[in-house]
Amino acid sequence: MPFVFPKDQPIAKNMIVLEGIDGAGKSQLTRALSTKTVRGTSIFTTQEPTDGLIGTLLRKYLDSSSHLFSPRTAAYLFAADRYEHLHGSDGILSKNDTSYVLIDRYIFSSFAYQGLNVGYKVLWDLNREFPFPETLIYLDLPIEVAWQRIRKNRMAKDHFETIALLEKIKERYEEILRLLEDSEVNILRIQADIPPERLAEVVIQAL
Ligand code: TMP
Repeated sequence: MPFVFPKDQPIAKNMIVLEGIDGAGKSQLTRALSTKTVRGTSIFTTQEPTDGLIGTLLRKYLDSSSHLFSPRTAAYLFAADRYEHLHGSDGILSKNDTSYVLIDRYIFSSFAYQGLNVGYKVLWDLNREFPFPETLIYLDLPIEVAWQRIRKNRMAKDHFETIALLEKIKERYEEILRLLEDSEVNILRIQADIPPERLAEVVIQAL
């Protein structure tokens, strides 16, 4: 049976997730949004992998050219990092009462990246207990533009940063967005091939 997300997955209120291929400008946008407000409410920003213990291990895995563990092990670790992020000490699920919580990457990154090698069913089993965000912002841009930005900005590229992989990951994202069409998640597709200052304004307006 083809994979589908359940329609009744719980939604975390005030949670906004930012997704897109490498080079889409997520990190810069996240920094810009951390100083903005939406209808008078501040935005608490955070990212995955986290800078906690498991996230730090994952960054090592991403930066290493020799694959330190199998894609499935990586999927387990991304889910463990996510659990700590949401429920560990200082977990972000306690913050969405008073502010918006914007996460740079979440479950959908596991589907887009680990989904290259690990089945969606396995990924869902690992991630099903995490709520969906109220809003998913997908930064869309041509592969060539993302690739130019990666080449220009980064000396060391992580191991997903090759043009062939970026293409496959973009295709995965398109598939995931289709699979989310029947869910309660509010999806905002933003054309990200614009200057960073303008991108932050466009996103704030869309929110
Ligand atoms: P970034 O800090 O530039 O967003 O890079 C994070 C990298 O981590 C990016 O290559 C995607 C990868 N990643 C996964 O493979 N699975 C995940 O679940 C998450 C959150 C990130």
